[in-house]
Amino acid sequence: MRTLQQHPGDLALLCCLLLLPPLLSHGADIPLGSTLSPGRSASWTSPNNTFSLSFTPSPTSPSLFVAAITYAGGIPVWSAGAGAAIDSRGSLRLTPNGDLQLVNGSGAVLWSSNTGGQGVAAAAVQESGNLVLKSSTAILWQSFDHPTDTVVMSQNFTSGMNLTSGPYVFAVDKNSGNLTLKWTSGSNTVTYFNKGYNTSSTGSKTLSLPTLTMQTNGIVSLTDGQLASPVVVAYSSNYGESGDMMRFLRLDADGNFRAYSAARGSDAATDQWSAVADQCQVFGYCGNMGVCSYNGTSPVCGCPSRNFELSNPSNPRQGCKRKVDLQNCPGNSTMLQLDNTQFLTYPPEAITETFYTGITACRLNCLFASSCVASTALSDGSGLCFLKISSFVSAYQSAALPSTSFVKVCFPGIPNPPPSPSR
Ligand SMILES: *[C@@H]1O[C@H](CO)[C@@H](O)[C@H](O)[C@H]1NC(C)=O
Ligand SMILES: *[C@@H]1O[C@H](CO)[C@@H](O)[C@H](O)[C@H]1NC(C)=O
Ligand SMILES: *[C@@H]1O[C@H](CO)[C@@H](O)[C@H](O)[C@H]1NC(C)=O
Ligand SMILES: *[C@@H]1O[C@H](CO)[C@@H](O)[C@H](O)[C@H]1NC(C)=O
Ligand SMILES: *[C@@H]1O[C@H](CO)[C@@H](O)[C@H](O)[C@H]1NC(C)=O
Ligand SMILES: *[C@@H]1O[C@H](CO)[C@@H](O)[C@H](O)[C@H]1NC(C)=O
Ligand SMILES: *[C@@H]1O[C@H](CO)[C@@H](O)[C@H](O)[C@H]1NC(C)=O
Ligand SMILES: *[C@@H]1O[C@H](CO)[C@@H](O)[C@H](O)[C@H]1NC(C)=O
Repeated sequence: MRTLQQHPGDLALLCCLLLLPPLLSHGADIPLGSTLSPGRSASWTSPNNTFSLSFTPSPTSPSLFVAAITYAGGIPVWSAGAGAAIDSRGSLRLTPNGDLQLVNGSGAVLWSSNTGGQGVAAAAVQESGNLVLKSSTAILWQSFDHPTDTVVMSQNFTSGMNLTSGPYVFAVDKNSGNLTLKWTSGSNTVTYFNKGYNTSSTGSKTLSLPTLTMQTNGIVSLTDGQLASPVVVAYSSNYGESGDMMRFLRLDADGNFRAYSAARGSDAATDQWSAVADQCQVFGYCGNMGVCSYNGTSPVCGCPSRNFELSNPSNPRQGCKRKVDLQNCPGNSTMLQLDNTQFLTYPPEAITETFYTGITACRLNCLFASSCVASTALSDGSGLCFLKISSFVSAYQSAALPSTSFVKVCFPGIPNPPPSPSR
């Protein structure tokens, strides 16, 4: 075995020859020693082919592969190692001692179920989309307990689990049952969404193990031992409709958490509910220094002024950079006024960056504080001023916003051209 592992190509070949019949028999248990490789179009499927586990091209680097469970039609619902990508010589292997491992072509184990030696006798993809590792009597490990960015029907998403997508994390708060969305970068974390549902029923209680589920009828609900009945989080817009479809919840790459439905065989899902109603309130959606606004219907990303340019012109979501860094200003720096604009401020920044001052002080205090890059004065009667000292700031512009912001730039500030009149 040791010799073979040093030559993964040989191992793959051996597996092909020995294990071809089990690989092709739909829905059968996958015996120990089985291997899936990107090169061959093999998959491990559920009894009725509703879900299958196979290698699919990595969304970020097409020459690499991700071991993913997909719904009939191709919508991914789980991936090994949260989307860890291997090259074409790598594999997913169920070792003879019962560990499921994602192995790169170099032989490096990128992810493992950590179930070696625990009595796993076989793997199986169930009709629900759950990948299980089981003994003859019990399920010892299941993918439903290790979600990536998606929760499907009959899957329990409990407090303590996370969904992740890029810098975003979704979780259910363990005491309150609140749904939370966080943006994380290095040691910075911003909670841009934290909401309780039917707090008349959850508000006075400390929950034990709040669990979010997508019901087959399209209701997103929260259950807990302390609650007499499930709390309705949301009704999908096509709630109650039946048919051969999969409903699921997903933390999308744009930082929003949504409910979807997809017909069997389709690779397109239709969104039926979004947790964050206003996409521009997702922290970091337009990258650092990016400004989110609406072009009528869709959120679009731009820069605060012509003192900035897009970091990546082909992807405005990657934010903006100053054409001249503040420390290199040829003259002095100034605060350029941005009307109807807010620099988003959520916990924990809301505690350290909030002051009660008028608009003039809100501008000048930022100008004279070397660590301050921008400020927002709310004109909603609260008298609040946010001084943005964080290294990552995220802005929102809308005619409806009762706030004025200032961004620090090298003199002179060059405002954006006025928006073209909307129809
Ligand atoms: C598979 O499909 C058949 C026919 O639709 C159905 O009777 C059976 O219950 C399905 N099996 C499972 C495990 O869902
Ligand atoms: C796997 O190997 C490929 C090249 O062989 C490399 O590009 C990739 O980064 C490796 N993946 C990981 C997660 O190390
Ligand atoms: C989900 O939770 C319910 C209630 O606790 C339980 O009966 C069911 O087995 C769980 N489902 C899975 C797939 O773990
Ligand atoms: C979930 O994410 C939080 C940070 O947001 C982290 O502290 C925790 O360890 C994660 N839990 C799991 C199970 O990954
Ligand atoms: C839960 O969300 C509500 C708003 O819906 C908020 O008032 C409350 O403070 C949140 N609870 C926690 C523990 O964050
Ligand atoms: C909130 O919960 C209470 C108690 O469980 C229930 O009577 C009520 O109908 C719920 N309200 C909504 C809007 O779901
Ligand atoms: C708004 O932006 C979206 C996405 O970039 C684009 O598809 C749409 O055509 C734009 N709408 C208008 C009215 O410009
Ligand atoms: C910056 O320089 C310009 C031009 O010399 C001047 O008008 C402006 O008042 C100066 N601002 C500050 C804050 O010194």
